[in-house]
Amino acid sequence: MIQTAGGWIVADMPYQRMKDYLDELDRRGLLRRIAAPVDRAWQPACLAKWMYQALPDDERFGLMFEHVIGSRIPLVTGALGASTHTYAAALEIEPDRINEKLMAALINPIAPRSVNTAPCQEIVNEGEKVRLSDLPIPTWTPGKDAAPYLTTIVVTRDANGGFQNMAVYRTQVLDDRSVVINLSPGRHGFRCVRSFLDQGKPAPIAWVIAAEPAVHIATVANLVYGSEEVHFAGGLKGEPIELVKATTIDLRVPAAAEIIIEGEIHPGETANEGPFGEFAGFMGPVGERPRARIRAITHRRDPIYYGYTSQMPPSESTVIQSLTNAGVILKLLRHDLGEHSVHDVHIDLTFGGLLAHGVVAMTPAYPGHGKRVGRILTDLTPLKRVTVVDADVDIRDPVHLEWAMNSRFDPARDTVIIDDVYFPLHMDPSIRTADGKLAPGSKMVIDATQKIDAGSFSLPPRDMMLKALDLWRDLGLPEFRIPRRAWLRIDKS
Ligand SMILES: Cc1cc2nc3c(=O)[nH]c(=O)nc-3n(C[C@H](O)[C@H](O)[C@H](O)COP(=O)(O)O)c2cc1C
Repeated sequence: MIQTAGGWIVADMPYQRMKDYLDELDRRGLLRRIAAPVDRAWQPACLAKWMYQALPDDERFGLMFEHVIGSRIPLVTGALGASTHTYAAALEIEPDRINEKLMAALINPIAPRSVNTAPCQEIVNEGEKVRLSDLPIPTWTPGKDAAPYLTTIVVTRDANGGFQNMAVYRTQVLDDRSVVINLSPGRHGFRCVRSFLDQGKPAPIAWVIAAEPAVHIATVANLVYGSEEVHFAGGLKGEPIELVKATTIDLRVPAAAEIIIEGEIHPGETANEGPFGEFAGFMGPVGERPRARIRAITHRRDPIYYGYTSQMPPSESTVIQSLTNAGVILKLLRHDLGEHSVHDVHIDLTFGGLLAHGVVAMTPAYPGHGKRVGRILTDLTPLKRVTVVDADVDIRDPVHLEWAMNSRFDPARDTVIIDDVYFPLHMDPSIRTADGKLAPGSKMVIDATQKIDAGSFSLPPRDMMLKALDLWRDLGLPEFRIPRRAWLRIDKS
């Protein structure tokens, strides 16, 4: 790693395993190791909940529970998505270059490489030796969830196309050798599994625990069906992700992972899943979902267990999904649709990128351009609200965003309500009906770009403001970091 003037790192070599990344977080004080014994039934989850409920983004850190009672394996949560800072560290860049890196990797994906031996298979447990209870799988909403849950990457394969899909689908532990997965219709993992079951064959499925950070980040991207997330992950890592054939099923899994759980879903086998605390902040209902038989658990000699913290937002799940999908949307607008007027995209970090609030910074080229881009996004993405502002606004700064809304947005003229947009997401509580059925929801575009030139900013000229910085220092007033908002303003003063 190379230290920059800003205190951040630039990668000279990508992380080869999750442990490399955790060591780097440790060096920066962004990981807390907890040596005291913890009860996985409630303690790790409640501590993680306090971190997300009490601490602001830039003060949060990953948690490593070194001694989980009843397991020999440490449990990590929150390390990838504690904050924008940890997410940027996972990508081995500075926080202000996240979208740039995501776009570059989406445009230049790197295909995976097959290997014959893998660290994730140093130890292979089959038959009687398969015991999910050996893993430190926590209960995430203690007192309310049905059981402990795996919250990690799920690999499936399309029986016809042959391609593999990676996504995170929460998975409830039923007993030592069976689980039920929250696979809902429309999700790519569901389509893969169906492609086997429809032919009367068992569907292979694997859970990947703690792969290289690039794999985790790529996995939550909303890509089109058939576009393999592992290629995006390779682009992020800057080299091919190594895949190895699973030991008991026909799937290829990340070789550098800490732990792999291999399973099969047999035709007609389902179970009740839930209740479970969902990302929108409410308990999700019980539903019938595919059940899987676990055939093997393979792992490194010294494995680490990783589980994402989700439930009440903000959470690790909302941070990583929002940051990743902002990059996916920026690439869609600029690269796929040729909207070079768009400079930047941000999704609020509190709702997982789904149903959330997307903010676009752009330079409109003609009247109505802002509304048009907003409409496109509401159509092509699961965002519920899209706000469009000029490129002179820092879209990650709520103070600056509020100023743009107050000074450049006229509600009657600049709002577009798009009614009856059917988006089948039962976890949006705002459109749930009393009988539990799905109702059509609506979306909103706010065009807060400047429609006429409102004149000069009411700040002294740039030279004078910079001279006043010296005066500030000479007078011994407390030091401060100049926010991007201020630079954008004085640059135009
Ligand atoms: C912690 C966490 C849990 C998630 N749980 C689920 C889930 O249970 N079901 C689901 O459909 N999506 C879930 N997601 C979101 C999907 O993983 C994500 O949208 C992914 O891109 C979907 O991939 P797909 O388009 O290949 O289906 C979860 C995401 C995270 C980070």
